[in-house]
Amino acid sequence: MSGLTDKYQKYVMGTYARQPAGFIRGEGCYLYDAGGEAYLDFVSGLSINNLGHCHPAVVAAIHEQAAALINTCNLYYTEPQAELAQLISENAFGGKVFFSNSGAEANECAIKLARKLGREQGGDAKHRIISLENGFHGRTMASLSATAQPAKQEPFKPLLPGFSYVPRNDIAALEAAMDDDVCALLLEPVQGEGGVYPLEASFLAAARELADRHRALLVFDEVQTGMGRTGRLFAYEHAGIVPDVMTLAKSLGGAMPIGATLAAPDYADVLGPGMHGSTFGGGPVPCAAGMAVFGELLKPGFLDGVAARGDHFLSALTGLAEEGLVVEARGIGLMLAVELDEPKAAGIVSQALDRKIIINNTSDTTLRFLPPLIADEGMIDQVIEFLRNALRG
Ligand SMILES: Cc1ncc(COP(=O)(O)O)c(C=O)c1O
Repeated sequence: MSGLTDKYQKYVMGTYARQPAGFIRGEGCYLYDAGGEAYLDFVSGLSINNLGHCHPAVVAAIHEQAAALINTCNLYYTEPQAELAQLISENAFGGKVFFSNSGAEANECAIKLARKLGREQGGDAKHRIISLENGFHGRTMASLSATAQPAKQEPFKPLLPGFSYVPRNDIAALEAAMDDDVCALLLEPVQGEGGVYPLEASFLAAARELADRHRALLVFDEVQTGMGRTGRLFAYEHAGIVPDVMTLAKSLGGAMPIGATLAAPDYADVLGPGMHGSTFGGGPVPCAAGMAVFGELLKPGFLDGVAARGDHFLSALTGLAEEGLVVEARGIGLMLAVELDEPKAAGIVSQALDRKIIINNTSDTTLRFLPPLIADEGMIDQVIEFLRNALRG
């Protein structure tokens, strides 16, 4: 490891607080280091490996497509892009997809689409975008401008103009902030990087109603919640409302880089030729991988199994709260977190790594769990047992 970390120190920008671990292989729910040690992975590359590492169907799709055609750019037609767009559209709320390479880029597209539509409907004035405090939408300047976390925004000011923020689940604040100058409401149905906070159904319903009242687009950032993470294909399905635009990335390509912005039929043609683009976006290889991911997620019973194992995990975490070991357990499906009474989350993550279990903390007091959706109850129980012992100190 020391040769590797030395090279990182010398040649790679230090933008990540990396854990002292390096991996050379992944299979199912396990990562393997150079010494052959297996680590139970309950982070899934921050929800990019929803099917586990190197799922055979994803690997086969990548091999086959890479051997035939890697990419051509978007001046030409390729079959996998059309097929994946159809899968996304037909399994969500219809409409058309723009493909990019990441979650931030998927949100950039949504923001540009909303700004263009707003301008068409209300001129210069209709350009404001409302997002939620503590949300996370990416690190590019537009997605950062929507990411209402002062520590992440401060060093890069001035941000883009026209972004306002309201607290999550505060319907009165949202109502007060909404006006006819708003072109979009952008939110995560479950705040992920902010610490796994599901939005209340009543708040989402109010967001839908207020967006309609002010002719603003309701945009759901499902970059982390999408692709089965919450026990449904998309998290909006839990709320009984449908957004106008949805962004996807992370696990869409089975850990290959891809982003997607789905616009409902009424908004599917807002962006025309020359309005937006990406050289790599929607390349045949990540799209072929995405088709394989859909194939697995849509197998009968797969998502019900995710929901059932999510319930098992959440009730075990709630048990830790009842034992007084954590303050709160929360989340939905296999997107879960516990809140600690003291700032000791980083220490617990290190202890877990020593025990060959990979978990993550979103703050000093929040532990987050994003296991592969194929993790079984035995693996979940192993993590619970580790937590119980570690938290008892
Ligand atoms: C909800 C959400 N949106 C956007 C992003 C940004 O995605 P990317 O890192 O692929 O740009 C993330 C990444 O964690 C995310 O969780």
